[in-house]
Amino acid sequence: MTRPSGRENLRPPGFAYRDRAMHCEEKDLRRLVKSYGTPLYVYSAKTLRERTGVLDAAFAGFPHTLCYAVKANSNLSLLHLFAQLGCGFDVVSGGELERVLRAAPGAAKRVVFSGVGKTREEIELGLRSGILLFNVESSAELEVLFECAVRLRKMARVAVRVNPDVDAKTHPYISTGLRKHKFGIAIEEAAALYSQVARQKFAQAAGVSVHIGSQITSVAPFGEAMQRVAALVKRLKTSGHDIRYVDAGGGLGIAYQGKQPEFAAQARRYAEAVLKPLRRLGVHLLLEPGRVLVGPSGVLLTSVIYNKTNRGKRFVIVDAGMNDLLRPSLYGAEHEIVPVLQDRSRKRTTVDVVGPVCESGDFLARDRELAAVREGELLAVLDAGAYGTVLGSNYNTRPRPAEVLVDGARVKVIRRRETFEEMVGAES
Ligand code: LLP
Repeated sequence: MTRPSGRENLRPPGFAYRDRAMHCEEKDLRRLVKSYGTPLYVYSAKTLRERTGVLDAAFAGFPHTLCYAVKANSNLSLLHLFAQLGCGFDVVSGGELERVLRAAPGAAKRVVFSGVGKTREEIELGLRSGILLFNVESSAELEVLFECAVRLRKMARVAVRVNPDVDAKTHPYISTGLRKHKFGIAIEEAAALYSQVARQKFAQAAGVSVHIGSQITSVAPFGEAMQRVAALVKRLKTSGHDIRYVDAGGGLGIAYQGKQPEFAAQARRYAEAVLKPLRRLGVHLLLEPGRVLVGPSGVLLTSVIYNKTNRGKRFVIVDAGMNDLLRPSLYGAEHEIVPVLQDRSRKRTTVDVVGPVCESGDFLARDRELAAVREGELLAVLDAGAYGTVLGSNYNTRPRPAEVLVDGARVKVIRRRETFEEMVGAES
């Protein structure tokens, strides 16, 4: 199927055309490329702040904390910005926790630790840092958490991450809430784990958590999962457990193509679905949004290296590949791609936009209608702020791209382009 691309369909308030040239806030993207080269990730601080504010406002009136999902984009400067906005953090590894401690030392008390395979070392780091909540995903993990807490004489606040058996209706790789998935503990079996927690001196039952998947564009599955969680919370409270937190996870999706939903309206619908079952439970809500905050806040800029036609099939070969943005290759994601300089006189044709990596799976878009571009011209891959740079690799010994954060007219390099020496530095 051919998909149109390259119209004015940008991502306000961060990205817009001005005099035909795409800007991030006050900055002409061509100027940024002159200074920093391509491939280049560009983030809009204004978009990040605005989206965080909108989501926060949708939950106003209900006690809540947004725990930004670090995995979506773990750059230290972005974590710092989220901390300034009052966010907590959802981490899934010791490394992510170290990042939070580095970028926002005071935020440890607002950290929730998720993940099916936390090691002893990671659990101990969490305990020593005094994090808010361990989202425990198996009884084996719970045993290790007890053992570590006793050894360190630190209190472990526990939430069981339940698997509610709800279909999130998203890509199978990022759906997590069904029985067949490795995530969480069957909701029917969760109560038994809380009884074990109650017998511990250095552990306390503090919450119930759930996360059903990512890039979920209908709010119904969230409502369904929360109904099941709410029923469990009631049961647990009746049995005397002091459940203060409900962690609803992340997963709210964005529109990668075409018309963008008005975010405030989307956030309100989401909040309604999540909150309805929770009213009168007397809990504090934790949310773990990732993509919905950072996705539309970032673009990936890339230069055209060559145009090529193979037996009539057209390819635009660009300098960003699957090692820079894996989402199209891994999930068949369809990020919109637009020229940085608009020229309506250009003929539109159907092309594959591909990278230089030696794999046929190395593409940014397939069968996409795009205005003709010449060698050296710039394209912007939209909505690349989430799961872009973090899924990057050095495959084909390609350095990781530079990343810049634009805030009004200010530009900050938040990661400089990797050098060859850095790529081989740990090798002998
Ligand atoms: N909380 C937990 C426990 C998670 O596993 C995730 C995402 C989130 C929160 C944040 O979800 P979000 O709000 O960003 O949807 N690489 C994939 C997405 C993987 C999501 C993994 N877990 C992609 O590029 O689509």
